[in-house]
Amino acid sequence: MNAEPARRQSAPAAVTVALADRAYDIHVGRGLLARAGELTSPVLRQRRVFIVTDSTVAPLYLAPLTTSLAAAGISADHCIVPAGEATKDFSHLAEVLDAMLAAKCERGTMIIALGGGVVGDLAGFAAAVLLRGVDFIQIPTTLLSQVDSSVGGKTGINTRAGKNLVGAFHQPRLVLADTDVLASLPRRELLAGYAEVAKYGLLGDAAFWGWCEANGETMLSGGEKSHDLLRAAIVASCEAKARIVAADEKESGLRALLNLGHTFGHAFEAEMGYGGELLHGEAVAIGMVLAFSLSARLGFCAPADTARIRAHFEAVGLPGLPPKRGPRGGITPAALMAHMTQDKKMKDGKLTFVLARGIGKAFLTHDVPAAILEETLAAALA
Ligand code: GLY
Repeated sequence: MNAEPARRQSAPAAVTVALADRAYDIHVGRGLLARAGELTSPVLRQRRVFIVTDSTVAPLYLAPLTTSLAAAGISADHCIVPAGEATKDFSHLAEVLDAMLAAKCERGTMIIALGGGVVGDLAGFAAAVLLRGVDFIQIPTTLLSQVDSSVGGKTGINTRAGKNLVGAFHQPRLVLADTDVLASLPRRELLAGYAEVAKYGLLGDAAFWGWCEANGETMLSGGEKSHDLLRAAIVASCEAKARIVAADEKESGLRALLNLGHTFGHAFEAEMGYGGELLHGEAVAIGMVLAFSLSARLGFCAPADTARIRAHFEAVGLPGLPPKRGPRGGITPAALMAHMTQDKKMKDGKLTFVLARGIGKAFLTHDVPAAILEETLAAALA
């Protein structure tokens, strides 16, 4: 990230994901839902779309979207799935595909995912397999999906064996990140999304991390200045993600850095169950503190980095330390390590970790001694 964060507050807010003939734009800003008809028109092959949304988002934003589309002469069918992670499964995938086929979607019909990460992943995967693949547009409605899951083409569902184990890389044709919709987001969800914003600083851009430290509290305060700061943070995050995805679409190396904090985070999410006790972004915040703590134990970075990260997360209201108890009782290093070995990022039976040589200097490794990992977890849970 080279641009000065201050400049981003007034910069034109379209970011391009440079993937040759599959390149696409991410628009970031206010009032984009109301302009959806105009903005989506250039990528439509038919004047019709099929919208997938959920029971939380539909009452708020389905009508504004279809009104804008209708004004541009675009007709829309839709289906509404239940809100929540449990919807990312085979049965809801089948339901969505059946609804698309019942509406007589054709190869040229655009699918629109209107919602957070669950809707984006499910609708994107449905688009990837419907009629062997149709185009789709992401209209993310949470901060987390605006800065991460709507960009980069990862789609999929969860199975009994774990999260996101069945899916496809399928890039959207366009992403519309309307920052006005964040006003209806519960504060806890906004904070959880902020963890993924901060991640871009921690993994590759120390200056952006410093900007987050200076502006994070104001950004998340809901006050007068929050909106411009949020927009700047979303643009910066999308620029970072776009650059990484363009360089390594299918995650053969660089893209894996986006998983900073995720191996730890997923293990805590699994221990806590998926009932809302620990949101994904909260788990990632905890996971990033642990990734730096493990890096420090292995001598890659200074312990002061871990303290600094934890202090900032706690200052904005994110957890800096892991939960010690879950629904099944006390959380142990052994239980966490068992979840980690089920992670799909295993390579030749070895765990992949994103560690850091300091803030903004993440790297991948397959060589983390189990004993040091266990020590790091035990210290965090003590
Ligand atoms: N969320 C990680 C990635 O898109 O690669």
